[in-house]
Amino acid sequence: MMRLQFASLCVTASLLADPAAAQQHGGQKPGAMDHMDHKFDDPERYAKSFDDPARDAWQMPARVIEALALKPGQKVADVGAGTGYFSVRLARAAAAPKVFAVDLEPKMVEHLTKRAAAEGLKNITAVLASTTSPNLPEPVDVVLVIDTYHHIGNRPAYFAALKAKLTPGGRLAIVDFRKGGGDGGPPDHFRFTPEQITGELAQAGYVLDRAHDFLPRQHFLVYRIK
Ligand SMILES: C[S@@+](CC[C@H](N)C(=O)[O-])C[C@H]1O[C@@H](n2cnc3c(N)ncnc32)[C@H](O)[C@@H]1O
Repeated sequence: MMRLQFASLCVTASLLADPAAAQQHGGQKPGAMDHMDHKFDDPERYAKSFDDPARDAWQMPARVIEALALKPGQKVADVGAGTGYFSVRLARAAAAPKVFAVDLEPKMVEHLTKRAAAEGLKNITAVLASTTSPNLPEPVDVVLVIDTYHHIGNRPAYFAALKAKLTPGGRLAIVDFRKGGGDGGPPDHFRFTPEQITGELAQAGYVLDRAHDFLPRQHFLVYRIK
């Protein structure tokens, strides 16, 4: 059960059921260090896995958000927000931060806008990203990147540019899949060690601030500007 849910999250159940898509997934850009070819253009389909309540058991969103220790008045960007699994929880956190729910897919942005309105979350603003920038309208205190780091291309350049959108003392939090897996998630070449992530982000001008170890399937690494 849990294995299927995890498969659904990143590979997606339909992709597993679709040999052509699976072949593209497994065979795309040999040696590539990003997963940019994977399109998330069907929010209703992805919501079934991204927002599956059973995900909470291993994704531990409340604990992740608690670990961020947000203060009232702070602003957060959820980069690669998908259907809003984290964005809505961030918006409801005690600190009630302003949340920028950022995604590359126009249909996801539309979905995020509708979801925020339907759930009465006025502190969520959906933002359409490009492949080179989250297009944040203003600096934020925390940039949270959940299960999306491996989808971003040219990460050293991307995150170097992002520093201009962090407030002084701002943090960059990365949650992404551990290597090895065996859990039906992304192929191993789209999973990185903490050292690889820290190395890429050092090139971008960040230093590791905290490494949380409580997520069973993912790293949870928090960086600050050097
Ligand atoms: C695996 S999903 C994760 C969704 C969400 N963070 C979650 O945990 O449920 C990855 C999402 O990131 C988006 N994405 C991929 N590359 C992106 C980029 N460069 N900038 C912003 N969003 C991106 C995809 O469209 C997709 O919605």
